[in-house]
Amino acid sequence: MRILITGAKGQVGTELVAEATNRNHKVYGYGSKELDISNLEQVSNRVQTIKPDVIINAAAYTAVDKAETESELAYAVNSQGSENLAIACKELDIPLIHISTDYVYDGDKPLPYLESDLPKPTGVYGASKLEGDQKIEQTWPNHIIIRVSWVFGEYGNNFVKTMLRLAEQRDELSIVDDQFGAPTSAVAISCCLLDIIETKQFNQPQCPWGTYNFQSDPGVSWYDFAVEIFRQAKESGLINKTMKLNPIPSSEFPTPVKRPANSKLDGQKLQQVFKIKPADWKSDLKVFFLHNSN
Ligand SMILES: NC(=O)c1ccc[n+]([C@@H]2O[C@H](COP(=O)([O-])OP(=O)(O)OC[C@H]3O[C@@H](n4cnc5c(N)ncnc54)[C@H](OP(=O)(O)O)[C@@H]3O)[C@@H](O)[C@H]2O)c1
Repeated sequence: MRILITGAKGQVGTELVAEATNRNHKVYGYGSKELDISNLEQVSNRVQTIKPDVIINAAAYTAVDKAETESELAYAVNSQGSENLAIACKELDIPLIHISTDYVYDGDKPLPYLESDLPKPTGVYGASKLEGDQKIEQTWPNHIIIRVSWVFGEYGNNFVKTMLRLAEQRDELSIVDDQFGAPTSAVAISCCLLDIIETKQFNQPQCPWGTYNFQSDPGVSWYDFAVEIFRQAKESGLINKTMKLNPIPSSEFPTPVKRPANSKLDGQKLQQVFKIKPADWKSDLKVFFLHNSN
């Protein structure tokens, strides 16, 4: 397939370009400097020139706290940018695959979130992402929106890399233990998106368009995640000391934007419709360390 990938230099975008290329798709990946999704004219022209079979949008404004003071930029990318891509897809009559986030929810639900649960973002980032999802829904029915959570991988900034960086400077860390979710690797997300577009269901006239959660298991707190990161980091030989980790409540680690207490996603719909199983983040973390310990 001819796949146009936006945000191709981000943590998911980089893996997506690599995985799609490995699978012998014809890939047109653009970073923000090569294709600014908030510019409709640029988007339309590029899409008309390339004439892809599908667009995968991995571009987003992702600075959760900074978005509070840069809301115009966050909305330009996450809302207007998503709408621009939907308009371009509609013009060419091709599907749009878009990545959304657990941060569209407030986290007050005690159980994993379903696609049918009412979104209620707690900050500008989540609100701008939600508006982007809604703009896509209103503009072009031929879309798949995939909600993911707690992304980690080799590229860009993420919790795993932050933990490893902090371990170089300190022997003891305090980690929030009252926010629960599921880490999801950028590689697993990339495989999920490509698996979807390669299915029979996707390539038939009546594709089950809509919003889907990509589940990752098991659900953990940030503290539990950190414990596993350092366990595997030591096992892989990447670090050779034992970190002292202290569980703390969110109230002891205030952030400009309140994080959802629960952002675990229920991926049953994706499994039923596209036969895509939940990711296993502990195995994916092992692969991350395998690549990084050599
Ligand atoms: N990271 C997470 O924990 C997380 C959790 C849930 C959902 N998600 C979603 O997953 C998707 C991928 O996120 P990620 O973690 O890969 O984020 P990322 O590493 O920040 O990558 C996003 C990419 O989008 C690019 N971008 C920003 N503005 C753009 C514009 N106007 N036009 C084109 N590209 C632009 C950025 O380029 P520059 O760096 O040059 O600005 C960056 O390379 C996003 O939709 C995000 O909302 C992420």
